[in-house]
Amino acid sequence: MKKTVETIKKQWLDVSYQELHQVARQQVKLYMEELNVLYQQQTGYGFIRFMEERMKRPESIYGKLQRKGYEPDFETANEKLNDISGVRVIAYCLGEIYWIADRVALEGRFPLRKVKDYIRKPKKNGYESYHMILEVPVLNGDEEKIVPVELQLRTIVMDAWASMDTRISYKKKKNLPLEEERRIKKYAKLGKHLDCLIQETMAHNAADRKAGMSPDEWAAQQELAELFLEQRRKEWRSLQKKQSKHQDKSKKKQQEKSK
Ligand code: GTP
Ligand code: MG
Repeated sequence: MKKTVETIKKQWLDVSYQELHQVARQQVKLYMEELNVLYQQQTGYGFIRFMEERMKRPESIYGKLQRKGYEPDFETANEKLNDISGVRVIAYCLGEIYWIADRVALEGRFPLRKVKDYIRKPKKNGYESYHMILEVPVLNGDEEKIVPVELQLRTIVMDAWASMDTRISYKKKKNLPLEEERRIKKYAKLGKHLDCLIQETMAHNAADRKAGMSPDEWAAQQELAELFLEQRRKEWRSLQKKQSKHQDKSKKKQQEKSK
């Protein structure tokens, strides 16, 4: 078994592979930041509390392939797993999650491979989150590759619960005592209730705030948002150039080797 993880690890560690995924996640993050600006222009607030990204580790890739009954090799992983790259957006309230999800689906910038709404239909243990698998095109030399990225949308409360659950229960080999399992479920229920209260309060507050802002204040805020967006776009363009150059170089190297 060790040998197979090692084989996956070797290919996983390849700089071009890492960059391919990094660029895919970067595109999703940039898109979230763009939507954040749009939301800010509409409501006066951004929805991003914070954003995280991660690349699935080789050990975890191997474990998942085995669990799902697939061949545990690198090619199968890339063909079958949708969550090698992941981005998580922690927003403030429920309404924001659905605002983002609707936008992503309607705009179609990235085709959707799969959507799982664990908010309307939480997992048995109480886990809540909104998952979307986006198909992200990345320039790979002169060809385009599709990299799936798992986008998880959560409120602060959902994230607090999930963080606790990850620490004490999720994917742990040993089952929790029944009493503790019940307690975790109860916390999820409390979380759901709190999320509804927060949603109500935030909706009231947003309406009051917009009504209380002068046109000048509003315009200044919009201008700031535009500036921020332009800066992020610049960063993105330079990242894409870097990636493309790198891929060209490694292609040339390979061609020379095979001569
Ligand atoms: P994984 O093998 O966990 O990736 O499952 P999956 O591919 O069938 O997808 P699913 O949408 O169920 O879960 C994907 C991700 O959501 C996980 O990798 C976790 O980040 C998160 N997640 C799902 N279920 C739970 C849970 O019960 N507790 C916690 N803490 N996180 C969860
Ligand atoms: Mg996963």
